[in-house]
Amino acid sequence: MYFYLVFIHVVSALFLGCFLAFPLAMNRLFSLESKELIISLKTILSFTRAGHYALVLLMISGIWMTIGYTSYPSLLWVGISILILILIGALIGMVHKQIKQIMFTADSAKELSKNRRQLTRYGWMTFFAILIAIFIMTNRSLF
Ligand code: HEM
Repeated sequence: MYFYLVFIHVVSALFLGCFLAFPLAMNRLFSLESKELIISLKTILSFTRAGHYALVLLMISGIWMTIGYTSYPSLLWVGISILILILIGALIGMVHKQIKQIMFTADSAKELSKNRRQLTRYGWMTFFAILIAIFIMTNRSLF
């Protein structure tokens, strides 16, 4: 069973890893117009939805492994891991909400450029939060 949990956990982490390319992919958005822009925004929405599923699987498999099988992770490690997971979820959620809002306005391109700064900031914050999560996961002995 432990094997399956690690497998699910790591595959979910890979899925979440797609968001490492997010800030770069976002830059491309700002040069798109109307129809192309809407298609790209819809694609991003699919990714943010999938990101949330990946986070749920990470949470379930991670907690299951911690409670059921491992004795070494400290409470501090578990606490930080859960906090960072919630932070990533909140950031992806905010991107999701903003993209949805942009899609449903009459002039999406204009609305997107209005929200450019914030979206870029969320993108980079998600990027660094994922890097930190992977660092924490792969360096359990430090905590
Ligand atoms: C942001 C979310 C998370 C990401 C990206 C993530 C990613 C990873 C990765 C890549 C590994 C494999 C590392 C290795 O084997 O050296 C791992 C292992 C592990 N993670 Fe997570 N994780 C996350 C959240 C959590 C949470 C919230 C928990 C539980 C509190 C957790 C519990 C574990 C455990 C117990 C292992 C050890 C599995 C093993 O190698 O035996 N993870 N995680």
